[in-house]
Amino acid sequence: MIRATPLDLTPDNDRIKTLMIDCHCHLLPNIDDGAHDIEMTTQMARAAAASGTRAIICTPHHLNGVYENPARSIRAALSTAREQLAANGIPICLYSGSELHLVPELPDRLFDGTALTYNDRGAAALIELPKATIPLGAEAILEQLVYRNITPVLAHPERNAVLAAHPERIGEWIALGCKVQLTAQSCSGAFGRRLRLVCRRWLELGWVHLIASDAHRPSGRSPATLAAGRNAVAAWLDEDAATLLTETNPQHLLSGEPLLDLPPRQTARGETAGSVWSRVLRLRR
Ligand SMILES: [Fe+2]
Repeated sequence: MIRATPLDLTPDNDRIKTLMIDCHCHLLPNIDDGAHDIEMTTQMARAAAASGTRAIICTPHHLNGVYENPARSIRAALSTAREQLAANGIPICLYSGSELHLVPELPDRLFDGTALTYNDRGAAALIELPKATIPLGAEAILEQLVYRNITPVLAHPERNAVLAAHPERIGEWIALGCKVQLTAQSCSGAFGRRLRLVCRRWLELGWVHLIASDAHRPSGRSPATLAAGRNAVAAWLDEDAATLLTETNPQHLLSGEPLLDLPPRQTARGETAGSVWSRVLRLRR
């Protein structure tokens, strides 16, 4: 369970109404392309706390061709970051995780403990795809994980060109046992109208289980972007859906419980699925 560290509700923070858990964030210092050093880690944590986040699952890249980051390196960086936040009185709880590139050796790495699941629960793992392709044998690797009772959580599949163009594959992977995590900035429109439309459609179909910042910096790609993504979900669906994706399901990642599904919705403004996809295709041209 999350340690009971209350948010500092000073007058400046009175507007904060949410207690979000950011389940994908590159906050740990000097371990990947996220925070360069412990000072940047501190700035990112302050940005998270000020925007209504109470906990962060730290997810450095693993085996993505640039960074290896075995579990022991992540644990050491996590310990350093926790000490720094405590010393600076920043009310954010940090947990272990990793963004695991989809490679054939991944299932064995998870089982020998070299690669990390969310919060060491052994229940679910964050899986990263390349930006432009789907590796050969991807389904077989995902099936291996499901067979071994590790739920694959797909990191921002809306940003994969193949999946955005062929969303039926997402539906197939969900049927296989995968879950979906969108990037908050894709939902809020910071990454463009086309991605925003894809996110909205997938949310309405009930295909989305989590949103997260995937933050790398104190500003721009910041932990504070999670709040705007949450607001987009609340506006399209409702507050309950936004709470499920930013509080309840991230808490389930921490406790090792199964993630809950969004109920599928009718499309906004009474549009048919065909009309929404026609707009997606027009924007892609
Ligand atoms: Fe990431």
